[in-house]
Formats: sequence, C-alpha cells, structure tokens
Amino acid sequence: MNVLVLYQSRNGHTHDVAEAIADVAEDQYHSVKIKSVIEVHQTDVDRADVVFVGTWVHGLIVFGVRPAEAELWVPRLPSLEGKPVGIYCTYAFSPRHSLDTLAEMLVEKGAIVVGQQAFHRNRTRDGADQFVNRVLQFGKRELA
Ligand SMILES: Cc1cc2nc3c(=O)[nH]c(=O)nc-3n(C[C@H](O)[C@H](O)[C@H](O)COP(=O)(O)O)c2cc1C
Repeated sequence: MNVLVLYQSRNGHTHDVAEAIADVAEDQYHSVKIKSVIEVHQTDVDRADVVFVGTWVHGLIVFGVRPAEAELWVPRLPSLEGKPVGIYCTYAFSPRHSLDTLAEMLVEKGAIVVGQQAFHRNRTRDGADQFVNRVLQFGKRELA
C-alpha cells in the first residue's frame, strides 16, 4: 500500500513520531512518504491508500488543550475524501480532547478516521506498532 504520513511539528517530537510510523509501515514493505502538513499536495493524498495526520498540542497545560494551530493548517490541507486516516498527537502533560477535536476537523475534510493515538513527547515509539497496524488493516479492507 501507499502510506502518507503528515505531521505538524515545531520542535521535532511529532516529526519523530511520523518517522516511527513510517518505520513500522516500511518494515511491512509498504511504500511510505512523510510530509509536513504545509507541503502536502492533493496528488500526495490521491496516491495514498492510507493517511496519517499528526500534530503537537497547545494549551495551558490541561486547560484549552487543542491540536496546535489546527485552525490554520487543517483548512489548507488537500481533500481527504474517502481516505482511511489515522490521527496522532504528541504532548507533554495531557492531550485532553485534542484528538477528538482533530478528528472532527478532518471529517470535515472528508476523512474516515479509523484510529487515533497520543504519544508522550519523550516516548515517541511507544504504541506505534499497534496503532499503525490497526490503521493499516482499514487500508487493506478498502483495497479488497
Ligand atoms: C507554547 C506551547 C504550549 C504547550 N501546551 C501544552 C499543553 O497545554 N499540554 C500539553 O500536554 N503539552 C503542551 N505543550 C507541549 C507540546 O505539545 C509537546 O512538547 C509536543 O511534543 C511538541 O511537539 P513538537 O516537538 O513536534 O513541536 C506545549 C508546548 C508549547 C511550545
């Protein structure tokens, strides 16, 4: 399958998770492209069977925690119409409801959100295997 991993990262932790996701998928011989949310084009999405979208979270530790700057970059994403999408975030204290918020925003872009995972910024590989495998299962079903 063709797997597209998108990330929104300021200090590199979310990019690290994008690489962890890519490693898991590549170990299973999938073809993977990693791109920042601001450099992705519609053709990248069109070629992908499965898309991952990840961001860091921003708030006041536990208050008002949201996917960082999502109001800026989500509307500019290409259409995700009909694509199985796995969403992820990195955080320092608690992601709170960031992934639910991101899911709602991506559904507006046509995404079919099939999995979500929050990663602590100091443990960017913990849980990546299970998360990626769960999401890739949906991609395989779409292709079948
Ligand atoms: C301005 C700012 C606000 C943050 N607010 C929160 C927060 O409210 N809750 C939390 O768990 N982490 C918060 N963080 C931590 C980041 O979400 C975390 O370090 C993340 O992994 C950064 O990702 P990046 O390295 O890809 O930019 C904040 C970080 C910054 C710089």
